Amino acid sequence: MPSFQTTPGTRDILPPDAARWRGFVEKFSSVVSLAGFQHIVLPMFEDLGVFQRLGDATDVVTKEMYDFVDKGGRHVALRPEQTAGVCRSYAQHRPTAPWKVWYGGPNFRYERAQHGRYRQFDQVGVEALGSDDPLLDVEVIALAVEFFHGLGLRNVVLHINSLGDSGDRSRFVDALAQYFEGHLAELSPESVATLQRNPLRVLDSKRESEQGVVSQAPSISSFLSDEAASHFAQVKQGLDALGISYVVNERLVRGLDYYCRTTFEFQSTALESAQTALGGGGRYDGLVEDLGGPATPGIGFAIGLDRTLLACDAENVFAHPSARADVFVIDTTGGMQALQLCQQFRNVGLSSERSYGARAMKAQMKAADKSGASFAVIIGSDELSQGVATVKSMVDGNQEEIALDSVVGHVAAQLGKVIS
Ligand code: HAM
Repeated sequence: MPSFQTTPGTRDILPPDAARWRGFVEKFSSVVSLAGFQHIVLPMFEDLGVFQRLGDATDVVTKEMYDFVDKGGRHVALRPEQTAGVCRSYAQHRPTAPWKVWYGGPNFRYERAQHGRYRQFDQVGVEALGSDDPLLDVEVIALAVEFFHGLGLRNVVLHINSLGDSGDRSRFVDALAQYFEGHLAELSPESVATLQRNPLRVLDSKRESEQGVVSQAPSISSFLSDEAASHFAQVKQGLDALGISYVVNERLVRGLDYYCRTTFEFQSTALESAQTALGGGGRYDGLVEDLGGPATPGIGFAIGLDRTLLACDAENVFAHPSARADVFVIDTTGGMQALQLCQQFRNVGLSSERSYGARAMKAQMKAADKSGASFAVIIGSDELSQGVATVKSMVDGNQEEIALDSVVGHVAAQLGKVIS
């Protein structure tokens, strides 16, 4: 018989990790809902053209796309991220602006899988469309800061930059290309290849041998138009006003091509791996128009679950939620009592578990211990004939006999739960 395993770059998120993932998304939802962001659920695959707008020269488009022709002859792709989908959705439905949405869920990139980098990975994120107000940038960044803080993370550094308007950006890219062309001997063959495709990405090089030439490269700040510079200054003022600390990092270029003006990234200083970017985002004022919609500014960010949870592990915060049951029912009379009692507990909102398959008392007691339940309710043949059950506190071992029809109310009261 063949046996199957997950394919490279994918994982099963098993219990209890999956509950932690859900808790993560719930926390994100509660933070961003307070700022008026509403949940959106997008398709996991779209017309390939939607994602080609992420940039002809980006790895995400040229190397990592999961694209295929479907049975109807449409060239589609699994989403590598959700910003383009949100903009396609805006162009399609034309909702009232500003449109503030949040999302969560899996994305797909055919990357070299490693710790913190997968081919299927989950993100949570927000997008705000319809305003170029720099204070909206601040509000969006502040949401991510608030979320990281809410998880308990303290070692996350916010890097910000401005890539200017599209004219500024292309003048900068030309200057960069010219500069690096003049320093080819100092670049690695990989960076020389990157230079041909996308000079901006050479700034991203982590190779020690290139840090000298990269650090001397032209800076975007000297190419910003007055409007873009003033926009960036207001973003910084807003962050200052909220007491949010940041590092201006003129080498921050990000991996997708749709960005203009404000860009930002959150880096963990608690992670030792190469994958220290927990999330990032920025403005993409031309993207909706590129996707056939009206000219509409937009800004947002996405946060990766994997790396952020790794950072939580490294900082010892946002631990696994407890999966403990309130009560474990032990029934040595055949299982019908446990079936009914468990149901009655669940009906009043208490979590209840039991053993299956008529196991011996000792085995059921062991299972009760393992479940971490606060109370065990024990029904043997003696108890059943007297119409009682033994209620045992698993915390202090105290036990008492309670009439069967009062067991649920008794345990609920012990747990401080009011039932009607
Ligand atoms: P991104 O920087 O490509 O931006 O991804 C954001 C985060 O997703 C990364 O910082 C990382 O935590 C996580 N991530 C990305 N790729 C992987 C992977 N292969 N495995 C695990 N985690 C990964 C975007 O996706 C933009 N859509 C963000 C944005 C929203 N910009 C504006 N709005």
